Amino acid sequence: MIKLHDLYFKPFISSEQIDEAVQEMVDDISKDMGDVIPVFVGILNGSFMFASDFVKKYPKPCEVTFIKLASYEGVKSTEDIQRLIGLTQDLTGREVIILEDIIDSGKTLEEVHRIFTNENVKSLKIATLFYKPEAYNKDYKLHYIGIKIPNAFIVGYGLDYNGLGRDLPEVYQLKTEKPMTNLVLFGPPGAGKGTQADFLKAKYNLVHISTGDVFRYNIKNKTALGMLAKSFMDKGDLVPDKVTIDMLNAEVDKNSDANGFIFDGFPRTNAQADALDKLMESKDSQINAMVALEVDDEVLVKRLLKRGETSGRADDADESIIRNRIKEYYAKTAILKDYYSAQDKYFGVDGVGSIEDITVRLSSVIDKI
Ligand code: IMP
Ligand code: MG
Repeated sequence: MIKLHDLYFKPFISSEQIDEAVQEMVDDISKDMGDVIPVFVGILNGSFMFASDFVKKYPKPCEVTFIKLASYEGVKSTEDIQRLIGLTQDLTGREVIILEDIIDSGKTLEEVHRIFTNENVKSLKIATLFYKPEAYNKDYKLHYIGIKIPNAFIVGYGLDYNGLGRDLPEVYQLKTEKPMTNLVLFGPPGAGKGTQADFLKAKYNLVHISTGDVFRYNIKNKTALGMLAKSFMDKGDLVPDKVTIDMLNAEVDKNSDANGFIFDGFPRTNAQADALDKLMESKDSQINAMVALEVDDEVLVKRLLKRGETSGRADDADESIIRNRIKEYYAKTAILKDYYSAQDKYFGVDGVGSIEDITVRLSSVIDKI
């Protein structure tokens, strides 16, 4: 996903697909032109990339020129077409083919036809790489069409959103779903992860998905996935990632109006992190950050021993067990720290101080993403 100005766009048409479509158009047009030397007229700005790739592939001599029209403001077609650069050469008797990047309402095409009414060309044909049939409301024939697309706003391969995106070699489509903030929350035992998760949930209206809770819920309610997970656990086997991911998927779908999710207890391995990325991608979203509370070992040991005095949790009472749990945490999360660092998504947050101080630190990280 990419962001241009204030809007998000998702991948839509790959550069390979574009290349194929351009090649097919070249094949059709060069066949129809025979030995005639056509004049290709690109409509600037949008068609510069298409025109360039098209004529590079064109197997026979041809001429290329441009006219410059403008009709779009932001993501909306306007009534008013401005002619910024008109025809600068005599095209009397020539076979002209218009190269358009995209035909939407057909307003621009109408202006093109107006420009050519008094030019006495031998023929005028229209070739457009992208075409939105649902938006087109004119009667001009479109002789060559590359790729038909639904009535959505696209950018890339010459097409822009307020000036940005023309340089992209592939095409992206405007994302209309609202963007989510999805976090993977980490912290060693005793770091105050539960407290901070509650705070983040409330402040950012996120849904906290604790994998442990999700398992317990599914098993307790005997869902199909819960029973499947239990069958592995009963045999003493690890629950396969696929089952866990399916459960998380159901949890995400249940909360489709959330502003985002806090994942807690998952992922634990590279493979799981990959699977989670794919899951979020399938929702047109992504993991934005791994946020890890960082607390010095000695502080953790002290905190947990203190907790053990009142909590009655056996694993909080023994110092060597505590140290082992902390060690295990770092051994396991190191891999994930690398995984998310490689995507520039790892954020360590100092977890020593008052609860309020730590929440302020967490907020400043999240407000930046
Ligand atoms: P029309 O005049 O409504 O057919 O729109 C044609 C012109 O609007 C194109 O040449 C583009 O400059 C612009 N346009 C139309 N649809 C899109 C789009 O989805 N993304 C970016 N520009 C567009
Ligand atoms: Mg255009």
